[in-house]
Amino acid sequence: MPLSLQFSAAHAASVGVDALVVGVLAGDIANDMVLRELDGALNGALLKLVKAQEFQGKPEQTLELTPLGHIKASRLLLLGLGNEADLTNARLRAVAAVAARWAQGCQVARLAFALPTVPDARALAEGIGLGVYRFSKYFTGDRQPKTELNEVLLLNRQRVTPQLKRQLKLGLAVAEAVALARDAVNEPPNEFYPETMAELARKLAKQYKFKLKVLDKPGIQRAGMKLHYAVAQGSAHEPRFIHLTYTPPGRPKKKLVFVGKGLTFDSGGLCIKPAPGMGEMKSDMGGAAAVLGLMKAVGEVKPDVEVHCVIGAAENMPDAAAYRPGDIFGSLDGKSVEIINTDAEGRLVLADALAYARRLKPSLIVDAATLTGACLVALGKTCSAYYSADDELAERFAVAAKEVGENFWRMPLLDELGDQLKSDVADLKHTGDRWGGSITAALFLREFVGDVPWIHCDIAGAVLADRAQGYYPKGGTGHPVLTFLRLVEAFSGKVDASA
Ligand code: BES
Ligand code: MN
Ligand code: ZN
Repeated sequence: MPLSLQFSAAHAASVGVDALVVGVLAGDIANDMVLRELDGALNGALLKLVKAQEFQGKPEQTLELTPLGHIKASRLLLLGLGNEADLTNARLRAVAAVAARWAQGCQVARLAFALPTVPDARALAEGIGLGVYRFSKYFTGDRQPKTELNEVLLLNRQRVTPQLKRQLKLGLAVAEAVALARDAVNEPPNEFYPETMAELARKLAKQYKFKLKVLDKPGIQRAGMKLHYAVAQGSAHEPRFIHLTYTPPGRPKKKLVFVGKGLTFDSGGLCIKPAPGMGEMKSDMGGAAAVLGLMKAVGEVKPDVEVHCVIGAAENMPDAAAYRPGDIFGSLDGKSVEIINTDAEGRLVLADALAYARRLKPSLIVDAATLTGACLVALGKTCSAYYSADDELAERFAVAAKEVGENFWRMPLLDELGDQLKSDVADLKHTGDRWGGSITAALFLREFVGDVPWIHCDIAGAVLADRAQGYYPKGGTGHPVLTFLRLVEAFSGKVDASA
């Protein structure tokens, strides 16, 4: 059942729902209107408990209590919102997700969420939609979820305008787009491989009337994508090259191309990875998942810029036909590449995808790739690296990431590391030494973008989370769909967006 989300003027103590979450601003808690109403119904127990438990309304701080029939809801959660001045859309989205995830976790079907202020209805709806997410497709019997959160009443006495309703609807639709990226990452690699990914693109194309081009294995070879082809040589699953196009009505002002690394599984190939953690390499298509999620969001938001999504999808496997260290291949761009380590497959697939993207003559190329372990070492599992030679562009990107609350840190394109990519037998080697591995990967990619304005995102790490945090669940996070969407909206003149 689809999630219904609406504003309601009901009173917190008497609203007939399974659970009530009260958003509480930090500061003068004893004078919070809703808390006082509830405290009255609970004969003064609530504010005593708040004090005893030192609940101060800090961001995402929670206090759960059992109201034992004194109010209509059978569960009650106080949820900290932090200071009103700091209640940005990013924070609002995160706390709304915490509320929805808590409710979903306690088998709640109907939830009321009381908020003293709603600075942005779309961000709020996004948060709730993102919070209810779970991946339960492969559970059977008792492990199957029995209830689903299907109704959320927003208790806030503001005038409900058609514009507000539209924003709630849009917010839920955006959350669905992020869910598509999460699902794709969570899917096991035996079920989700390049052909499946192309099918998903086909579904999107049909639903939103996008233009679609898919190249199969012979098509990739005929097109001259020799690096993409080489990586896929050792896999029983055939590769796919995917290109989706959204064209707005009228004359679009800009053409943005988003490129995603789509390794549905990365075993490392002949330079095989160690067994521990290899299963996580099902998430090596996180970049592709994000750009597909972005396209779904674009289909809903309908910005007035042209948006392309280009994906190199393959599986990296060891096999008699697999590519080897020492091999030399040409590329779509024309440059020849000496293979050093078959586990550095992502940059090869991306090199051809970027060369293709460049031919579209875009105003901007943004790529997303779970590219290097070195990025994880540098920034940890919750923060991605981004690279751009253009300071102004980098700033725009940083603003977009901050507005949606995703962690990105700018890294330098250090020219002096470029020497590591010099080969004795070909135009380029495709890996450097151990130090600055995320940077040399970025420098390798730069060889294929020419002078098109470009942002490269090394998202190894943040696409998969060890635990739920903010609006990210455990598992596939959907990072960085929202940052990309915000960037698209910033380039678009259309304003219906949350800022
Ligand atoms: N997909 C991996 C990068 C990765 C590692 C992503 C860990 C998420 C978690 C990539 O294809 C890879 O294996 N990179 C190698 C490159 C090296 C051989 C130069 C790496 O980082 O070890
Ligand atoms: Mn690899
Ligand atoms: Zn990889």
